[in-house]
Amino acid sequence: MTFILFCLFVALNFPSQSLQQTKNPITDFCRRFGHQTAVIDRKLYIDGGLVNWNPISQNPLNYTNTWLLYNDLDSTGSAGGMPQIYSNLTKNNTVPSVSGGILWADDVNKVFYQYGGEYQTSPETFAFWAYDTLLNQWNLTSGVPPGIERVSWGAGATINDLGYGFYYGGWLNAQNTPGWGGLPMATSSLIKYDMNANAWTNNTGPDNTGRAEGVMVYLPASDGGLLVYFGGIEDPYKNGTIVGANMSNIHVFDVASSKWYAQNATGEIPDMRRKFCAGATWAADHSSYNIYLYGGQGINNITGFDDAYILSLPSFTWIKVYPSSGEGSSPHGLSSCNVIDNSQMLVIGGYFAENQNCDSPDVWGTHNMNLGEDGPENALWDKYYPNITKYLVPTPVISAVGGG
Ligand SMILES: *[C@@H]1O[C@H](CO)[C@@H](O)[C@H](O)[C@H]1NC(C)=O
Ligand SMILES: *[C@@H]1O[C@H](CO)[C@@H](O)[C@H](O)[C@H]1NC(C)=O
Ligand SMILES: *[C@@H]1O[C@H](CO)[C@@H](O)[C@H](O)[C@H]1NC(C)=O
Ligand SMILES: *[C@@H]1O[C@H](CO)[C@@H](O)[C@H](O)[C@H]1NC(C)=O
Ligand SMILES: *[C@@H]1O[C@H](CO)[C@@H](O)[C@H](O)[C@H]1NC(C)=O
Ligand SMILES: *[C@@H]1O[C@H](CO)[C@@H](O)[C@H](O)[C@H]1NC(C)=O
Ligand SMILES: *[C@@H]1O[C@H](CO)[C@@H](O)[C@H](O)[C@H]1NC(C)=O
Ligand SMILES: *[C@@H]1O[C@H](CO)[C@@H](O)[C@H](O)[C@H]1NC(C)=O
Ligand SMILES: *[C@@H]1O[C@H](CO)[C@@H](O)[C@H](O)[C@H]1NC(C)=O
Ligand SMILES: *[C@@H]1O[C@H](CO)[C@@H](O)[C@H](O)[C@H]1NC(C)=O
Repeated sequence: MTFILFCLFVALNFPSQSLQQTKNPITDFCRRFGHQTAVIDRKLYIDGGLVNWNPISQNPLNYTNTWLLYNDLDSTGSAGGMPQIYSNLTKNNTVPSVSGGILWADDVNKVFYQYGGEYQTSPETFAFWAYDTLLNQWNLTSGVPPGIERVSWGAGATINDLGYGFYYGGWLNAQNTPGWGGLPMATSSLIKYDMNANAWTNNTGPDNTGRAEGVMVYLPASDGGLLVYFGGIEDPYKNGTIVGANMSNIHVFDVASSKWYAQNATGEIPDMRRKFCAGATWAADHSSYNIYLYGGQGINNITGFDDAYILSLPSFTWIKVYPSSGEGSSPHGLSSCNVIDNSQMLVIGGYFAENQNCDSPDVWGTHNMNLGEDGPENALWDKYYPNITKYLVPTPVISAVGGG
């Protein structure tokens, strides 16, 4: 009986496994979503997440991406004008491949750390891995103290100068915590990892409301920098009934004093959304800090968004920058956003709920925003140019808040 069950199990699992093994992560690419990214030394690393293979009609499942890939930020490579992708780095099945976690980049020591995230099926016990980019090698770290759990779809940020990784909120659920029997629970803690001291702290958030699926970015403002959090969902009644977070409500953490502040933003407030991505840049004289967001999934009656907004600080003004009216035609969430040289933002992948089209397979789902709108197209969306390294505050921001 055991033998028969075992054979049945193998038979059921074999087709998807063998199908996955014969796929090429570059040439069979159709879509990528829920992945983690980090930029170190002109390489944008892509770890984990899910993929769809081309064509989706014949490959309807989501597959775990088990490859560690990278885009070469000094190349334009492809005809589509995006940085060439490679899949020749080391990663085996001992190292987790998860969705909705973070890679904390330490670009002094050329390492990134993999924290958080969830599995497609049963989770393994939380182990904390680091990838040494110089050695092309994964190292299991000395471990994580009690009281630091693995959560998923929280909001993370890295402070390079200080070597700090942060992660706010996120879910505890059956995909990230072995033996989790209850309903998913949104956490309210702010995790900090000090990369140089290998020290963890579990701090409080702005309040004890559970939150997840929002974004957090680092701004080099104030003495020790600021973390700015918004969006996603919250559990305001602490009973598991979630609601969308009001996109006007901005939470700011001052790193030097470890204090949280709240601010209401005005302007063109975006619709509530979850699993969107964002990145930050600032004027050379720090007269404004501009956070660019892209897309996301809807909360209730909307599948998602194909739009872009800027939250400009210190005025806390929302400005819509794409499209010029209405919504774009390809709503999707679960993309990644990485700002390169303060001036361009690579928006990679996403899950498109409304169709089965592949996501620009000629450029492996890589899209680029020219944040200053001063590239050859003089527009937000443009090809990627390694030689664009200066951010000019674009007209829509100057019109709304002034400055140059
Ligand atoms: C694939 O993942 C997306 C995004 O999380 C989800 O909405 C969809 O139901 C998944 N599809 C399958 C076949 O599991
Ligand atoms: C991966 O391929 C690129 C391009 O051919 C090459 O420059 C790089 O050295 C390779 N990396 C490894 C770890 O093999
Ligand atoms: C990874 O382990 C190797 C030894 O196998 C060591 O030389 C290297 O410094 C380690 N890297 C990190 C980032 O810990
Ligand atoms: C998989 O990678 C880990 C981390 O580099 C290593 O310790 C382990 O020996 C590898 N396993 C196999 C089977 O190669
Ligand atoms: C932080 O600590 C609180 C209180 O013990 C706990 O409920 C929460 O799950 C912890 N957060 C993480 C991400 O481990
Ligand atoms: C949680 O509380 C809110 C507000 O009281 C209520 O509307 C909702 O139905 C409750 N949810 C559950 C699961 O009890
Ligand atoms: C969001 O918050 C702003 C400012 O607090 C408030 O004016 C607005 O009515 C709120 N919107 C919703 C949908 O609750
Ligand atoms: C934001 O607006 C809400 C309602 O409009 C108000 O209750 C709250 O005090 C405001 N918060 C701040 C920080 O001004
Ligand atoms: C979706 O719901 C929100 C609030 O619940 C409402 O303001 C909006 O008009 C609805 N949108 C559509 C397309 O029905
Ligand atoms: C950047 O390189 C492109 C060619 O790839 C060239 O046309 C353009 O003039 C360069 N821009 C700057 C600012 O050097």
